[in-house]
Amino acid sequence: MSRHGKNPIAGALTLAAIAAVCATLVAGTWQLTRDRIAANAKAELERNLAPALGGLEYDGSLTAAMVELPPPHGLPGRDAAAIYRVYAAGAPVAALIAVTAEDGYAGPIRMLLGVDTNGVVTGLRILEHRETPGIGDGIAHDRSNWAEQFTGRALGAPPLGRWSIRGDGGDFDQLTGASVTPRAVVKAARDTLIYFDANRETVFAMQSAEEAQ
Ligand SMILES: Cc1cc2nc3c(=O)[nH]c(=O)nc-3n(C[C@H](O)[C@H](O)[C@H](O)COP(=O)(O)O)c2cc1C
Repeated sequence: MSRHGKNPIAGALTLAAIAAVCATLVAGTWQLTRDRIAANAKAELERNLAPALGGLEYDGSLTAAMVELPPPHGLPGRDAAAIYRVYAAGAPVAALIAVTAEDGYAGPIRMLLGVDTNGVVTGLRILEHRETPGIGDGIAHDRSNWAEQFTGRALGAPPLGRWSIRGDGGDFDQLTGASVTPRAVVKAARDTLIYFDANRETVFAMQSAEEAQ
């Protein structure tokens, strides 16, 4: 018999109750953290929409005609991709496409590519990455102007075979001592342009979440 109580069943029940309360608290905290991380990622994405558009004029709000594409979607990345369609005077002028380059040095790199309806890049912004500070993090606009070299490029300019970093025979600058990170971003940008080129009409015909309501 225990020194703390005469009834072992009551003791076990108390322990089970404590365990249940702890499990509920952990699950609740996890859920709250997950929701907060998702909200922060969405806010960061939306902050980058206008900068990735490079000054192109547009109607209304950039978030109004967004479609989320669950995988498999044919764009780079194993997670959901998002496409924000952009219109001016009611006609499609560009798409802002959020994708993931899976093969970064330290993990996936979330990025946003703006492309106009002629297939010309309006801007590239890195949304989230874990690349090494001082080595691979120069891809981010707050660390260097590396990503600006994409603006004005298109699938034919340079030709598809030169959509790679200089070290691989391509036209894109890399970063000093870091070729893995830029290689991943160039490849994801190229594959996003290939998708857009092949699916332009479908992209603008998709129903957004708002329209579906
Ligand atoms: C601690 C450490 C961190 C590194 N971080 C990165 C990185 O974030 N991005 C990257 O491309 N290479 C990184 N590298 C370098 C790669 O291992 C690789 O050597 C480099 O990308 C090759 O680039 P290079 O062809 O310009 O020499 C890191 C290396 C070390 C030792």
